[in-house]
Amino acid sequence: MSAQVLVVSNRKGGVGKSTTSVNLAAHWAALGLRVLLLDLDTQGHCAVGLGLKNIPPKQTIHHVLAGNKADLTTAIIQTGRERLWLAPADPMFEHSLIVSDDKLRTLKNLLSTDAVQEQYDFIILDTPPSLDFLLLNALSAANWALIPFLPHALAAEGVRQLSRILFKVAMQQNANLRLVGLLPVMLDSRIGLHRTICDEMAKQFGSQRLLAGIRNDIKLAEAFACGKPVLEHAPASRGNADYRQLAEQLLLLFEAQGRGR
Ligand SMILES: Nc1ncnc2c1ncn2[C@@H]1O[C@H](COP(=O)(O)OP(=O)(O)OP(=O)(O)O)[C@@H](O)[C@H]1O
Ligand SMILES: [Mg+2]
Repeated sequence: MSAQVLVVSNRKGGVGKSTTSVNLAAHWAALGLRVLLLDLDTQGHCAVGLGLKNIPPKQTIHHVLAGNKADLTTAIIQTGRERLWLAPADPMFEHSLIVSDDKLRTLKNLLSTDAVQEQYDFIILDTPPSLDFLLLNALSAANWALIPFLPHALAAEGVRQLSRILFKVAMQQNANLRLVGLLPVMLDSRIGLHRTICDEMAKQFGSQRLLAGIRNDIKLAEAFACGKPVLEHAPASRGNADYRQLAEQLLLLFEAQGRGR
């Protein structure tokens, strides 16, 4: 069976992309699935969120992408958790090293090898808060896209912009790409504006696209600072309950919408 590739993306910064990538990865691994978390953002937050330090620059996804090597396995490290692996970012990576358009499929090619496809059930791509070569590579390689957003005034415009890019990539590079859902993050049901924004998002993008969401929970920020998924740091927290629900909801949606490949 082939690996499913989920890209977690929003061009806005600080909307919970890395928190979602790390915690979703931890929950899917806990549910018995084999997960590769791949960090395309040179901020390197996935390694931080998993408590992994001193990663040699040569053992990074950026090193593999820049070097045009066909072997992703050199960038994959163990995380100390069962069924969860990481392809970490290189914080020193210079974007100018890879710019040409003909490299938009580099990541897709790296993920398409039998070794990768057979080793993992899910590959999660955490992406940088910008529209660059790395994000386009991620969109070209994925079959599902998840867009976390903060329920603030400009959220809809940001999601609209990204969905236009998704549509273009789906038309030109990757017919397998589908938007699986919009994920409100740092929700507080006591704040009327949050409800209003979520209602508007459901109206604009379709209620079936709006996922249950992740409530505001300081335990999620604490877990990240401790270098642990919230499942390990605070299993009884609402943040953990919300990410478990998301992990299960996405599996049902993948099933219902048919497997992308
Ligand atoms: N549901 C939540 N409740 C409280 N804090 C949260 C929640 N989700 C994320 N955070 C915190 O918000 C901050 C931004 O989250 P995160 O780093 O996941 O966003 P990001 O979209 O990956 O950011 P960037 O664009 O810089 O990569 C972090 O400090 C994180 O711990
Ligand atoms: Mg991030």
